[in-house]
Amino acid sequence: MHLTATTQFGLEELLADELYSLGADITHIGSRAVEFIGDQRLLYEVALWSRLSMRLLRPFAAFYAADEKALYREVSRIDWQDFIGPGQTFAITSVVNRSTFEHSLFVAQLTKDAIVDQFRERTGERPSVDTRTPDIRLHLRMSENEVILSLDAAGDSLHRRGYRQHTNEAPLNEVLAAGLVMLSGWDGKKPLIDPMCGSATILTEAGLLAQRIAPGLFHQGKFGFENWYDFEPELWSQVREEAKAQRLEEPQAYIAGSDLDPKVIDMAAANITAAGLEDFIRLSVRDVKDAVAPSKEEPGIVITNPPYGERIGEEAEMEALYKTIGDALKANFQGYDAFVFTGNLEAAKRIGLKAARRTPLFNGPIDCRLLKYELYRGSRRAPSPHPPAPSPAERGSYGGAEDGGE
Ligand SMILES: C[S@@+](CC[C@H](N)C(=O)[O-])C[C@H]1O[C@@H](n2cnc3c(N)ncnc32)[C@H](O)[C@@H]1O
Repeated sequence: MHLTATTQFGLEELLADELYSLGADITHIGSRAVEFIGDQRLLYEVALWSRLSMRLLRPFAAFYAADEKALYREVSRIDWQDFIGPGQTFAITSVVNRSTFEHSLFVAQLTKDAIVDQFRERTGERPSVDTRTPDIRLHLRMSENEVILSLDAAGDSLHRRGYRQHTNEAPLNEVLAAGLVMLSGWDGKKPLIDPMCGSATILTEAGLLAQRIAPGLFHQGKFGFENWYDFEPELWSQVREEAKAQRLEEPQAYIAGSDLDPKVIDMAAANITAAGLEDFIRLSVRDVKDAVAPSKEEPGIVITNPPYGERIGEEAEMEALYKTIGDALKANFQGYDAFVFTGNLEAAKRIGLKAARRTPLFNGPIDCRLLKYELYRGSRRAPSPHPPAPSPAERGSYGGAEDGGE
């Protein structure tokens, strides 16, 4: 079957790699979406294992709709009994852009009317709409009046993993958090630290990755495909059992986080426990200025998402905070790679390090960067009575000049 996985901007290539490694035949990498071909087993495996997919779609119709009449007519041409069974409820999610139709809700409404009218004419009964937990969720995408209709295989966006109990003010979307961990190139073995961890989304996604836990195992309720006419329950339970058996019981990496706010750390602990990772992730209440690396011998990575300070008047506070982050990285994380995910590029200049890489991403509507800093060793040695001459590699300090910004 032809399938499409949607994702966040900037994660498309990583998603294609992830799908490929699950056995998908990739046919197209687009903006925020990857198209691929696979069978039922692959569909079930992607639903369970994909860390980077948002929606998982199975397209079944494509047409051009110049106006309302054309949309109604084209939708009426589809035999809806092939997709919505007797007594099943349904709902439509619609995304409309660059089209003569302005409102996605209106498009969804018209599509719903065409479906309901067909049922009424052919069977005398009309299926009910349930926008919260429908048996069948349809997805309509209209771009330049070209419509693609799909079945939503998960029934919901896969970023809602189901482990999150509580969140702080600005939690990261789980897919984005997994994306940051994967973009960092973390091997799942080295220490990983988030010194401003909030509700621990980065730490939790890292823990799931390291312990080989399939994120889809936390999914609340049924997946959409469990209500499809061609659902194979035995294959599904086999794929689930195989996924559960993959879990590694021994801790694979030192993963730790801290935050200034004790209430936030309580939330983080609840989320980590809900994900079954309480034995694998350490938490503490601590200011980022006091954040420490677990061991000097085994350098790891820092991944963190500081506040951006979106409110007016917070500029000076943010500049001071980012300077503190930079100072802590330089003093306490030598030998580490640090990844700072931020939407405040002005304040990020105060980190005072040259970014080795900047990956453009979005956090909701906010234009962000994942900034990579390489923290070379040996530049903040304690003075010794007979200091050895520095090796050429050690002379480089923190990797060069101050960051000049974008
Ligand atoms: C944008 S939130 C992090 C959200 C997190 N990635 C998540 O998914 O929940 C930034 C966090 O930095 C914390 N913070 C602010 N100033 C801090 C400081 N000086 N030291 C440590 N944490 C701090 C806040 O309490 C907040 O939880």
